[in-house]
This record gives sequence, C-alpha cells and structure tokens, in this order.
Amino acid sequence: MSPSQPGVTAAAEQGDAIEIGVLGLGHVGLVTALGLAELGWRVVGADDDREKAQRIAGGEAPFYEPGIEDALRRHLSLGQFRVAPDGPSAIRAAQILFVCVGTPLDRSGQVDLSQVEAVARTVARNLNGYKLVVEKSTTPARTAEQIERVIRRDSGLANSSFDVAVNPEFLREGTALKDFLNPDRIVLGVESERAAGLLVRLYRPLLERLPEGASRLLVVDRTTAELVKHAANAFLAVKVSFINMVADICEAVGADVEMVAQGLGLDPRIGPEFLRAGVGYGGYCLPKDLRSFTRIGEALGVDAGLLEAADRVNEARVERFVEKVRRALWVLRGKTVAVWGLAFKPGTDDVREAPSLKIVARLLDEGVALRLYDPRAMGEFRRHFAQAPGQLVYCSSAVEAVRGSEALLILTEWPEFREQDFSRVRELMALPVVVDGRNCLDREALQNLGFEYHGMGRG
Ligand code: UGA
Repeated sequence: MSPSQPGVTAAAEQGDAIEIGVLGLGHVGLVTALGLAELGWRVVGADDDREKAQRIAGGEAPFYEPGIEDALRRHLSLGQFRVAPDGPSAIRAAQILFVCVGTPLDRSGQVDLSQVEAVARTVARNLNGYKLVVEKSTTPARTAEQIERVIRRDSGLANSSFDVAVNPEFLREGTALKDFLNPDRIVLGVESERAAGLLVRLYRPLLERLPEGASRLLVVDRTTAELVKHAANAFLAVKVSFINMVADICEAVGADVEMVAQGLGLDPRIGPEFLRAGVGYGGYCLPKDLRSFTRIGEALGVDAGLLEAADRVNEARVERFVEKVRRALWVLRGKTVAVWGLAFKPGTDDVREAPSLKIVARLLDEGVALRLYDPRAMGEFRRHFAQAPGQLVYCSSAVEAVRGSEALLILTEWPEFREQDFSRVRELMALPVVVDGRNCLDREALQNLGFEYHGMGRG
C-alpha cells in the first residue's frame, strides 16, 4: 500500500505525531510493526538481539513470511518504520508500546514470563510521559495486571502516567501480514477510557476499510482478552486432535476421513476449518498454548483433561506415522526414503515443534537413510535438528529427493508438491510408494500412475 492509499491517509490525516513502539521483532512483532506502518502509523521497533535488529534495519527479514520483506523495505525507505538502537530509545520515542517478546514454556510446562517482566521494568525506567503498554504476546490470564504492578512499583508513578491493555494477535504464520490487514476480529482488553480511545483510534484506518469493520471489534476487560487468545489456540488444537482421532477410527473401519471432515464441516456449528487430518499440529503456538492453558486450568482446580487428551493424541501422531511407513515398507533398516516438507506448515520456514523433527529422528533411529527437501525450511531444520546427521541428505529439489528412494513421505502440504511431474517421480524412485502425512496429493491420480498410496485415515 502506498501512502496515498486510504489507510495511510486516514491515519496521517489525524495530523498527530503518535509513534508506535514495538518491543520484540519476531514473527509477531515484525508483522505487527509493518501492519501498523501499512495503516499509516509511524512505527519504531526494537529487539534485544542486536544482530537481528541490524538485519531488520538493513531491510532483511530474519524469517520467511510472504510479503514481509517487501513491506519492510518499503516502510524503511518511506520512513514509516525504523529500528531503534535499543529498547529504552524505542520506549522513550513512542506513546503506545506493543509488547511482542517471547513467552516460551519452562520445563514444568508453565509460561516463562521473564522477558515480559524485563520489558515492564524497562518501561518503568523510561516513562518520559504517558504510555499505553499493550500486551500482544500470548500470556496467561492476569499477566496484564502483573505488568501494571511492576511498572507502578518500579517507576513509583501513579497509574495515570500509563495504562496497560491487552490486544491479542491472531496471526497465522504463512499469511500473517494478510491476517493483520484482514482480521476476523480485533480484541481490545482495556481498563480505562483513555486506553480504549487510543487503541480504537489506532485501528480505525483498518476498521473503516473492512466491510462491517466495526462488528469485528470486541472491547472487553483485560483478563477476558487474554482468555480469548489462549482459549482460541487451545480450541484449534483440540479440533485438530479430534479429527486425527476420527482419522484413526476411519482407518480401522475403512472410511475416508476427508469425506467425514467434509460432512462435518458443512454443519455451520462445526465449520470446515481445522479438520485436516495428518501428522499433527506443530509450530510455536498451538502446542505451547495448549500445554500452558492446561497448566493454568490445573492450577485453578479446573479439570483440564480434555486439553491433556488433545496433547496426547497429537504426540501419538509421530509413532502412528512411523508405523504406517513400517507397514508400507515392512523392514525399515537399510531403506532409503524421501521426505517432502519439513516446516510445521506451508508458507513458512519455521520448524519449531514441527512433526518433521520427531519423525526424521525416529526414522534415523530405525536405520532409514533419508533424503530431505523443503522449499523454505531446510536451513531452519538443520539448525534445530539436534541429532547427528547419520544417513541424512539435504536435497536441492523435490525431484532430487526422490532419486533412488523406496518411499516418499509428505510431512508438509506445500502447494508445489501437488504440482510435481509424478511420472518423472515414479521413474526416479526405486519403489513407487507414497505415504502422504497431510492427505494433500491426488490419491486417484497417483494410483493411476502405479503408485501405492497411503494416506491418513483414508481406509
Ligand atoms: C496459530 C493460530 O491459528 C493463530 O490464530 C494464532 O495467532 C497463532 O497460532 C499464534 O498464537 O501466534 P500458526 O501457529 O501460525 O497459528 O498455525 P496454524 O495455522 O494454526 O496451524 C498450526 C498447526 O496445526 C500446523 O502444524 C498445521 O499443519 C496444523 N493443522 C492445522 C492441522 O494439522 N490440521 C488442520 O486442519 C489445521
């Protein structure tokens, strides 16, 4: 979007010099910063990781996300976005501060909020005027209250000098910038009129250009906003595990989960999304948020067994998939197998908690030689894959990976996989066996070419 477009004009016309600060420039922070810049706001970002901050300042996105690098270069050159030398400079320059730092799980499965606390303390030391601190990272219920307490105590200033609000993100990797600019909902958790007013003003350029934009806005108290986010991700995880359990039943009785999912999805009370059976959910959000939501429920004396079961079903996907490969190949030791797809989902280079990490490790343990290919995630996979390489070859293309392989495994449903020349693939493979962990290939077409096809829950 150029500055002459409606969103930019709408914000600029208000003639104010508000600068927005974004603290933490990871998947959430950088997208938020550039999304706000697209809306016409001036944004300053900061990240404690100096090397990452420098790369971003030089116009290089530190991860793959469609549209991000273009938007970054454009807004750097327009001056809509800049990178501050450090957190305190960004805090002092901005009036509204989005907290987008990491919230990893500790060993006990609880969220480690030390980065959030560190930001709150830095804000407290740099309160050079009113600040609205907006919690964007996914955090447990009542984190905003703690942020407020830390800022008040460390700064010694009254609440009138600052507000803390909650504005959870619902960005999906692979479509994050699009999601920012076309949100299903904008949830604002606020405790003061001033905070509500500022945030509504911030999002007005977006709400005005979306059809029925105002109906997408939900203004609630902070704890409710925190729960909307945590519950949403937990629900999505439960939904995926539900369809995976149904897939196993389908397999046992000879039904096709794809058709069952279609039948379920036509019911508007259920909906068609998140009913794709496969090797399970991964990524930095669903697994982590489900587990921390479980711990929160337990700590509050609430029976969180439903969530635990969803986690268990997801964990069991890896072994179920390995067994499927074993059934297809009988003896695994000494076999050569191609793997297409390492990212936890298409459209990203992210492999955090990706099913591929565990499946590849298990197959190596079984003595299988693996030829891996992913259009984006090979570098990240190498970085995250703790196990010694063993019989592991990274290939330069999908076709290269299948050369001499006795089976082809699909772990991520990248669109380019569907478009391969499967006659050529069949010629190159030592055995025409496909185990499609995402049910993304055309089963009939492959069978017509002489492939033996194994899907997930497709009896
Ligand atoms: C998720 C949520 O969808 C976003 O709304 C949220 O903002 C984000 O987490 C976050 O908390 O930051 P994301 O992790 O990018 O987004 O990925 P999803 O699209 O939710 O997919 C998660 C996993 O579930 C992937 O591994 C995907 O392959 C798997 N999945 C998804 C299935 O196995 N089946 C499905 O039907 C859908």
